[in-house]
Amino acid sequence: MNSATAAALGALHHYVEYDHVSDNFRDDVLAGLRQFPKRLPSKYFYDERGSQLFDEICALPEYYPTRTEMALLRKISGDVADLIGEGATVIEFGSGSSTKIRILLDSLDAPMAYVPVDISREHLLLSTKDLADSYPDLRVVPVCADYTQPFDVPQIAGEKVRAGFFPGSTIGNFTRADAISFLRAAALDLGHNNGLLIGVDLRKDAKILHAAYNDAAGVTAAFNLNLLRRINGELGGDFDLDAFAHDARWVPEPGQIEMHLVSTHAQTVSIDGESFDFEAGESIHTEDSHKYGIAEFKALAGEAGWNSIDCWTDPDELFSIHLLRVA
Ligand code: AVI
Repeated sequence: MNSATAAALGALHHYVEYDHVSDNFRDDVLAGLRQFPKRLPSKYFYDERGSQLFDEICALPEYYPTRTEMALLRKISGDVADLIGEGATVIEFGSGSSTKIRILLDSLDAPMAYVPVDISREHLLLSTKDLADSYPDLRVVPVCADYTQPFDVPQIAGEKVRAGFFPGSTIGNFTRADAISFLRAAALDLGHNNGLLIGVDLRKDAKILHAAYNDAAGVTAAFNLNLLRRINGELGGDFDLDAFAHDARWVPEPGQIEMHLVSTHAQTVSIDGESFDFEAGESIHTEDSHKYGIAEFKALAGEAGWNSIDCWTDPDELFSIHLLRVA
């Protein structure tokens, strides 16, 4: 733990860490590259450089989701606050840099507590400390956990209602089966009658999607290739980053952008003594980003034990925000 993180930890009154935070980058990479077609899990994009590149993606002119969701959230936050009610405990899944939460906290009626949940301890503590400084009356209880697995939400004394918050359409990066398991686990974490505000990217014109994931400045390409850089740096790989090309494709059925890294020629890559052969044009599938219709997402949430309370979209129908309640 570096000194800034230690200082943040010291300044926070509460902090909870679960020991199931156990990613295995090496095993997952080797297992993914032994498969055909080859795959790498998208959760490994987010080392320090990957998180920085993702922040850059969010500000790109072609990448509409972040600014569209923020504008929509600002517009609907009064309605959301009325529906959630007074004195809520807000639990944010994958809190990251905690920027969108400020829009919600500013409009809620006397929120009681904020529980950011994130797997990255450093990021969690630093961003939570900033937030706690800005909201001195709010009880802030960071939880370091893998939010895709069930975990115990800390009980806050005098708690009235819990509201989960899962913005950014991160649910789109889960397979449908994983999205259902996450929503089921979230229903258990939050408990009967509590709510979840969730951002979901919508199906739309393929040209808009293609541009958003193949930006002209090449930031998404750098983000995708950073995974190979990470393997070289952390696992002793010898990927030639110039010999793989970023490719993001819209696949209408089941409705997802697929990101790939395509080998530009036949080559062999070695990682920690193990060799992996690539044919020319062979790809490593690195990410899926599902886009859901409104009814389609309500049905998915219904399967996982949630009722739809309301749903809002921006005027161009690019992005949706759903408010759900545990059935
Ligand atoms: C984090 N997630 C919602 C992003 C998305 O749009 O699926 C990740 C991303 N991949 C490429 N650009 C952005």
